[in-house]
Amino acid sequence: MNPTTASAVDESAAAPVPSTEPAVSLRGLTKAFGRSTVVDDLDLDVASGEFFSLLGPSGCGKTTTLRMIAGFTDPTSGSVLVGGEDVTSIPPHKRDVNTVFQSYALFEHLDVRRNVGFGLRRRGVDRSQLDARVAEMLELVELADKARARPAELSGGQRQRVALARALINRPKVLLLDEPLAALDLKLRHAMQVELKSIQREVGITFLFVTHDQDEALSMSDRVAIMNDGVIEQCGTPEDVYENPTSVFAAGFIGVSNLMSGTFTDGAVGVTPDLRVPVPGRPGCVEGDRVSVAVRPEKIWMSDLTPAMVQAAGTIVSTSYHGATTQYLVSLGPDVTLTVLEQNLPRMRADDRWNPGDQVRIGWLPEHAVVLR
Ligand SMILES: Nc1ncnc2c1ncn2[C@@H]1O[C@H](COP(=O)(O)OP(=O)(O)OP(=O)(O)O)[C@@H](O)[C@H]1O
Ligand SMILES: [Mg+2]
Repeated sequence: MNPTTASAVDESAAAPVPSTEPAVSLRGLTKAFGRSTVVDDLDLDVASGEFFSLLGPSGCGKTTTLRMIAGFTDPTSGSVLVGGEDVTSIPPHKRDVNTVFQSYALFEHLDVRRNVGFGLRRRGVDRSQLDARVAEMLELVELADKARARPAELSGGQRQRVALARALINRPKVLLLDEPLAALDLKLRHAMQVELKSIQREVGITFLFVTHDQDEALSMSDRVAIMNDGVIEQCGTPEDVYENPTSVFAAGFIGVSNLMSGTFTDGAVGVTPDLRVPVPGRPGCVEGDRVSVAVRPEKIWMSDLTPAMVQAAGTIVSTSYHGATTQYLVSLGPDVTLTVLEQNLPRMRADDRWNPGDQVRIGWLPEHAVVLR
């Protein structure tokens, strides 16, 4: 959707009043189960209207965090604020949040219309208003033609959209989504990612989205928090966390990171006897420190090298064709093997690719080497 349409929608009566308070704030939020602390002293502000993702591996504490925000799990310590109000001791149904879970439980005996209207009906909203709001929601998730269908007659993506409409109809300040697309096949999942993002823009509600899929988090979010073992390792825009990872974990969890380690002296990291990787302007390195340095695979060139690049000689170890790209493993020495990703350009032919055993020169611009903790 283009920005003009978005602002036109924002000015409509249904748009929430913009607030300068963060939609969600976590202050020292901690959860321990017995002796194991699974969410550890989280501090986080999610801005109003933001699409924010919590990204991390299985078991890192994403669902537990979401459940504490929703009120289904009591924190061991710390607090949750919604729209600036401390809701830590307020029960779930009195918080201005709604949750869409991975297993979107629909009422199988009710048709789509009644599933979507369920919450409003229970709150005693009058019939004509209820019908109008349900129709508006079904329009939004493009299911107007399925209003009378039972859940059993819907596809996975359609069921997911019913669950979304059912949550959005309450116009919560915040919508919590726990891996809502995990059950869908890849194609449907991609289609729903685009749809979900455009719905969020249209309604302007804050989305707090949990996923362990890095692609999903990068493509949908305004900001991403990378979570590991109960703590947030890094938080920033997708571009920021991808281009400037600050930890080995963050670099490795988002994409392939080509980690090299060595000793930092005189502005560069000595990776092999023949390869010193300059790390210009990177603060925090002390002479003699053992550090890791990373270069993303698509930042490495294997032809058209320029004198400005850091260069090294290598041997192709493997070549794999991925349709739009070709991925090479290039060995620079006994302990250093880098992944290099090349676009398959329109005029490229199969015999233009490098083969295992070929000697190559690789290079990257100094600013593309990132030092990690
Ligand atoms: N009720 C519980 N009792 C004891 N341990 C729990 C409970 N709920 C969660 N845990 C533990 O807390 C940790 C974090 O769980 P959580 O469900 O938050 O992870 P997650 O990041 O959502 O993982 P996934 O991606 O697999 O859904 C796990 O080690 C889990 O075993
Ligand atoms: Mg989970």
